[in-house]
Amino acid sequence: MKQDQQIELMQYMLKMIDDDSTEDAGQLLKNPTSSYVCKDLAEREWTTFFENHPQVIGLSAELPEPGSFITNSDLGIPILATRDKDGVFHTFVNACRHRGAVLTEAESGKQHRFACPFHAWTYASDGQLLGIREPKKFGELEKNCHHLIELPSAEKYGLLVVHPQLDGTIDMDELLGAELAEQLGDWKLGQTTYLGKSSLERNLNWKIANDTFGENYHFHTLHGKRLNNLFYGDATAYSEYGRHHRLTLPSRYIDVLRERPKKQWNVTDACVVVYYLFPNVQIVLANRVVSVFRIYPSRTEVGRSTTRISYFEAQHIGSEFADAPAAKLDGDNVYDANVVERLEFNLETQIEIINSTLDEEDYYMGEKSQEAAASGKVEHFIFGRNEPALQHFHNNYRAALELPPLEAYRAG
Ligand code: FES
Ligand SMILES: [Fe+2]
Repeated sequence: MKQDQQIELMQYMLKMIDDDSTEDAGQLLKNPTSSYVCKDLAEREWTTFFENHPQVIGLSAELPEPGSFITNSDLGIPILATRDKDGVFHTFVNACRHRGAVLTEAESGKQHRFACPFHAWTYASDGQLLGIREPKKFGELEKNCHHLIELPSAEKYGLLVVHPQLDGTIDMDELLGAELAEQLGDWKLGQTTYLGKSSLERNLNWKIANDTFGENYHFHTLHGKRLNNLFYGDATAYSEYGRHHRLTLPSRYIDVLRERPKKQWNVTDACVVVYYLFPNVQIVLANRVVSVFRIYPSRTEVGRSTTRISYFEAQHIGSEFADAPAAKLDGDNVYDANVVERLEFNLETQIEIINSTLDEEDYYMGEKSQEAAASGKVEHFIFGRNEPALQHFHNNYRAALELPPLEAYRAG
């Protein structure tokens, strides 16, 4: 995001805080709770959003150099993603062409050759079959026809993307749209440094997990003792980019910036910027850290999902003005922050926030919503005028499945 856009956005946030207002979706909507428990819907979602739609599987920094690789098994396909000797990103089916053994079960690593653990056929990081053991005894083989099976992939705007179908196509600019593509490009996500990852597997439908990221109406209550010390709830800037959207949530440090020259304003110092990328990704920028959340439905239980979280250091997204004082927080003092100082988070801080906020509070509450939905006694949930991102997310996936939009709720 360009700096003039950042200043405009922060002025908009400050006005909201001063006026005690927030973004207004213009109406309330009813969301049928069946959408969180229906097995048929879950099947359609899986087919449409996860089997037949490009998938962000990480940021470029997760493959920092030639030979770097990561694996992924969240899409029903064992995937081996590599950066080859020339630095080119590839995604392969993580299965040997002899009899399908998995080539590596490591989550990540660095190697230019992959020797199959079953009978030692060997592949290069660009997928080429380099050699087979005892070729005379095995028999004649057309080596060129037995390279690793490559899935369509793309690397752009710092995103690593795979298409789960062999004949799938990925057009990043079409997927993101010009405005969002430019904005993500401005953040230079490709310049981040990978810090680490964690994951949460909980009893809530993947859409309830997504809903967690869609509003800060709950900050005062659910996060009243912790995250609320750092952030303003009840004020959210919201923008739509086709199927995607962006939320901006102000931290209390935004008040300090009122007194500082605007050229020193940097939105990620004073707000959390959350990009939702259709269908299942949340990218969170704040305090010189980028966190990427990928949310996957369980294939066997509608009311269960896994959230994969990757953390990246991003010094370049913060203010360039070194005179801005910074409170370097760690896992022990994150909620005691002195908010007159710019906050600097590290991996421990991020993981502490995820554990204490997402795991213990958001997803805990999400499991209660899931139980209510599963009881069959609560027909619908209500999305307020102050929850436009929830309205957008749900209406969006419904449109993609050719379901009618959510019904308006009218009082009286
Ligand atoms: S399955 Fe890989 S070498 Fe046999
Ligand atoms: Fe929350």
